[in-house]
Amino acid sequence: MTSTTDQGRVLTTAPAFDLLGYLKQRQTQVESALEKAIAVTYPEKIYEAMRYSLMAGGKRLRPILCLATCELVGGTVDMAMPAACALEMIHTMSLIHDDLPAMDNDDYRRGKLTNHKVYGEDIAILAGDGLLAYAFEFISLQTRQVSPTQILQVVVRLAKAVGAAGLVGGQVVDLESEGNSDVTLETLNFIHRHKTGALLEASVVCGAVLANASEADLQRLSRYAQNIGLAFQIIDDVLDITATQEELGKTAGKDLQAQKATYPSFWGIEESRRQASQLVLEAKAEIASFGEKALPLMAIADYITARKH
Ligand code: IPE
Ligand code: IPE
Ligand code: MG
Ligand code: MG
Ligand code: MG
Repeated sequence: MTSTTDQGRVLTTAPAFDLLGYLKQRQTQVESALEKAIAVTYPEKIYEAMRYSLMAGGKRLRPILCLATCELVGGTVDMAMPAACALEMIHTMSLIHDDLPAMDNDDYRRGKLTNHKVYGEDIAILAGDGLLAYAFEFISLQTRQVSPTQILQVVVRLAKAVGAAGLVGGQVVDLESEGNSDVTLETLNFIHRHKTGALLEASVVCGAVLANASEADLQRLSRYAQNIGLAFQIIDDVLDITATQEELGKTAGKDLQAQKATYPSFWGIEESRRQASQLVLEAKAEIASFGEKALPLMAIADYITARKH
């Protein structure tokens, strides 16, 4: 990954990597596995509500990270696909609940009406619960060619990432901080690292655990993921201001309206973008020693800041 210029300086040049082609191919694989994961049976309404949000599109970033990391440390896509699907089920649950009137009160998600707008709040709450529980059943029953010890570790890590020590805790402080103009940077970082960073970190680390990665590799990948996790939510906050509803598939400008504690409200847009780029650089440095095998994770890190939705 290095080359020497005529001036004798050594430059680091990443070989060309077709990220868009890679993401498209992985999205298709994930969509097809998700499509088969949940059948509609009695009582149909709940399965339809779960599938409505799960199959509504989305970038599928968490499953893609899990698959990429499993491959990076020597595992296969098949080993990680049930965990990848479970991650998307958990993420979708978090979106359904995040959009409820009692939380962010949003009408659009993934370019469609939110779950509660279509099925009602009662069913939307239950659809989230159903997806969360099924995610753990799905990993436990469907994962193949991985030892039960590894599977149990993944279950524990995911449970922790989504519970009060992770996503739920972050959402609580996010809601508590609404309308408070004195939120400190420490609190803002807590919110972002927990509500969004924890599940992204689990996506990366669980892929590696499934392939029985060494402790040193787990540490490096975890630091990579913590950096892209924070960068991801910073950019989500920036896009809430700079992008349109058509681009986002969700209502723009909501954070300002709800007086959310965000990076742009603290630092402004320019500085927020700069900090996100810096975090992406740090993330990439953490995995540089994997060499060319890390190209997908490198490219995904760049995509976190370059994305338009
Ligand atoms: C949105 O996540 C919620 C956040 C954690 C910021 P994504 O931006 O990954 O949403 P989808 O999955 O692509 O719809
Ligand atoms: C998302 O934060 C966090 C979770 C869904 C866990 P936001 O509330 O900023 O996400 P969007 O902007 O509604 O997607
Ligand atoms: Mg929210
Ligand atoms: Mg929201
Ligand atoms: Mg947001």
